[in-house]
Amino acid sequence: MRSGDVSRLAYQLLAAGDTSTVRDVFDGLGPESRYLRYHGVKPQLSEQEVRYFSEVDHHDHEAVVAVAGTEPVGIAFYVRRHDDVRAADVAVEVVDEWHRQGIGSRLLRTLARRAREEHVDRLYGTILQSNVAMMETLRRFRAPSETTSRAGPVVEIAVDLQR
Ligand SMILES: CC(C)(COP(=O)(O)OP(=O)(O)OC[C@H]1O[C@@H](n2cnc3c(N)ncnc32)[C@H](O)[C@@H]1OP(=O)(O)O)[C@@H](O)C(=O)NCCC(=O)NCCS
Repeated sequence: MRSGDVSRLAYQLLAAGDTSTVRDVFDGLGPESRYLRYHGVKPQLSEQEVRYFSEVDHHDHEAVVAVAGTEPVGIAFYVRRHDDVRAADVAVEVVDEWHRQGIGSRLLRTLARRAREEHVDRLYGTILQSNVAMMETLRRFRAPSETTSRAGPVVEIAVDLQR
């Protein structure tokens, strides 16, 4: 499917242990996207990271995938926090070729719906302040949000899913 054809994308839950989808989406991120996502140079994911991201249980750890035909083009994860069962950390990735077509927003909305279903009230994003794309994606999501901490160029933003 061509990258302009967003109307035909499917949004589905990641199957537990689907490491190849996690790898495929990472492979589609260029160096800048990887930097923004991982806050540093990131030539590859470790085996441990791939296993961790794909170990979804659809309750404490969920992931939604955007699929073009058979090709995964984006993924959004949440992982519930140990110290607060109503809160989870979130991350979103869309392969470069498919940026700015609404996929990140749709992934975030779909993931938020799943999070609410699993009684998660707050999503926390740890984001480089310079990451305009993610800041804009959160703005477009239109849920109340606040900056909960800052460490150098990195901010933590809490998004309230209850309203
Ligand atoms: C952040 C990311 C997921 C956004 O995905 P996307 O599919 O391109 O986002 P969308 O198309 O849904 O865009 C959402 C909003 O952000 C805006 N936006 C997206 N990229 C932008 C950019 N580079 N500059 C300015 N605005 C941008 C869009 O215009 C849109 O706003 P609008 O509807 O008012 O026009 C994507 O850029 C990405 O994968 N980045 C690398 C990984 C990363 O940084 N993840 C976040 C850290 S957890």
